[in-house]
Amino acid sequence: MRVLLIGSGGREHALAWKISKSPEVTELICAPGNAGIALEPKVTILPVATADLEQLVDLAKEQKPDLVVVGPEQPLAIGLVDRLDELGIKTFGPKLKGAQLEGSKVFAKELMQRHKIPTADFGVFSQFDQALDFVKAKPGDWVVKADGLAAGKGVLMCSGVEQAEQALKQVMLDRAFGDAGERVVIESTLLGEEASCIAISDGRDILMMASSQDHKRALDGDQGLNTGGMGAYSPAPALDAAMEKTVTEKVLRPLVAGMAAEGIDFKGIIYAGIMITPDGPQVLEFNVRLGDPETQPLLMRLKSDLVPVMLAAIDGKLGSVSLEWDTRPSVCVVMAAGGYPESYQKGKPITGLGQAAKMQDVVVFHAGTSKKDNQIVTSGGRVLGVTALGDDIRQAVDRVYAATQVINFDGAHYRTDIAHRALARLS
Ligand code: AMP
Ligand code: GLY
Repeated sequence: MRVLLIGSGGREHALAWKISKSPEVTELICAPGNAGIALEPKVTILPVATADLEQLVDLAKEQKPDLVVVGPEQPLAIGLVDRLDELGIKTFGPKLKGAQLEGSKVFAKELMQRHKIPTADFGVFSQFDQALDFVKAKPGDWVVKADGLAAGKGVLMCSGVEQAEQALKQVMLDRAFGDAGERVVIESTLLGEEASCIAISDGRDILMMASSQDHKRALDGDQGLNTGGMGAYSPAPALDAAMEKTVTEKVLRPLVAGMAAEGIDFKGIIYAGIMITPDGPQVLEFNVRLGDPETQPLLMRLKSDLVPVMLAAIDGKLGSVSLEWDTRPSVCVVMAAGGYPESYQKGKPITGLGQAAKMQDVVVFHAGTSKKDNQIVTSGGRVLGVTALGDDIRQAVDRVYAATQVINFDGAHYRTDIAHRALARLS
């Protein structure tokens, strides 16, 4: 069977690596892919941008794949799945209505409120003065969130009314995130440990993936600016079996049932960003695609073929499949370009990839890479996701950092404390 994979990041390299191993797959077409994806077996790269809806539809019409897998949120938010469904092309991912779960924070919060899914108290505003009155009425720590997609940057943590006022000005008046800031969600700050709970939905049933934890801040000790994610590991001890059961029963099942009751047949990934608070799990956000970099350690642990599971989700038959996981933990460390998450340079030659690839239980997933004059060079902010399995979390961490040490490019930086929460639990 022929699969078309949309996307070009580390998540998509992990997907390509996994999908190309499926005995059912004869050809994997990736648009637009990256230099690492291009090296996987069975892969053909086609240069179509993930933001170009019409070109993606044309590509699918031309290629007639048996399955389309959409990696990032953007094509979902512009209705790619709806268009491909009209053409009778099987596509893994939610349609436009379901993709609002990530595309609009107002939609997600109001849906959670209607279906009694635990999440922080909040208000929704489209008028600056009213938003300001709201925070002034209850001084404290607030989180100001632009309603729309803002590449993970539209969430501002504010301690006190003054910071909240600045954040509201930035989002609502200065339009720092463009139209995404037309409306804002203001919610109370939750304290606890964060974890990523990722499940597959067929519109009725859900199938949990293994737990994982991301590291959003740029610097060690969870300092510095927020990023797309600087590293992740799986499993996350904070999401033990009991907590996972609570999240399934209090969040994921009511969510899928609630959407179904409102006419949304959600097929694809539901990623719940959870804060584990003393009062139990609370939802911080939903995403409608796999996490990046969480996918890299997750797929390294996944023993089952993912392709039949994605097809079962599309066909509403998730009940007939299961996922088997390697019991060994895995860790992914993101190597980023100098300057990231602020402006950074591109085109830096990368060395050591061959040596790292030979290391035991290590896979180097590419994110922002491309090929220039027969050499692999940097072409994005997050450049590589170096990932390793170990007999225990300590060994996985040691292996991953041994691999990052043999890889070099000008300006490379990465966090040296990925999985610190899991390691702290060992002592
Ligand atoms: P979001 O995109 O909504 O998940 O927000 C990005 C990050 O902001 C989360 O991963 C959290 O670290 C933080 N965050 C969002 N909402 C809250 C909240 N209500 N309380 C504390 N931290 C939050
Ligand atoms: N790693 C966070 C995200 O994918 O949104």
